[in-house]
Amino acid sequence: MTDRAADRVAKGSAANLPRRRFFGRVITVIAAVVAAAWAVPLGIYAVAPALKRRIREWADAGAVTDLDVDRPRELDVVVSRRDGWQEVRAVKSFWAYRAKNGEAVAFSAICPHLGCAFQWRGDEGHFACPCHLSVFSLSGEVVSGPSPRPLDRLDVRVENGRLLVLPQDFKSGVRRKIPI
Ligand code: FES
Repeated sequence: MTDRAADRVAKGSAANLPRRRFFGRVITVIAAVVAAAWAVPLGIYAVAPALKRRIREWADAGAVTDLDVDRPRELDVVVSRRDGWQEVRAVKSFWAYRAKNGEAVAFSAICPHLGCAFQWRGDEGHFACPCHLSVFSLSGEVVSGPSPRPLDRLDVRVENGRLLVLPQDFKSGVRRKIPI
């Protein structure tokens, strides 16, 4: 190749450089868009089961007329919930009674202090936790002991004479009622 020809080739390459850079950037942007288009559905697919785990369902706890007035009783319901891709069934306990005004009242059976099971002491008219001796009134207020908050009241509703309860666990040992 003559010097002039070599010079021309060198000039041509230099002229092509911005065009190559431009196409390089276009390809990078297209690759990023394609990656994002895949990442979003894949991310939703991966995260959706974990979100579903939080879905709560009303559980039938029996005839509301079976509840005694101002005398709590411990009841169990079986709940099923999705845990990832698995369907998990679990027994949830709670305390329930009918107040004098006819309202159904339910509390989680887990002590808000550190998670022990408490009992209703009918003779004394209060709930008592054996672990660290927290005492709660019929309405769930702390009477004495280390519990940082009242008993955790559960959502209930009555439908066709049936007591429906929304079982739920809450964080132990903190003042606020935080669902978990
Ligand atoms: Fe109930 Fe501590 S766990 S008082």
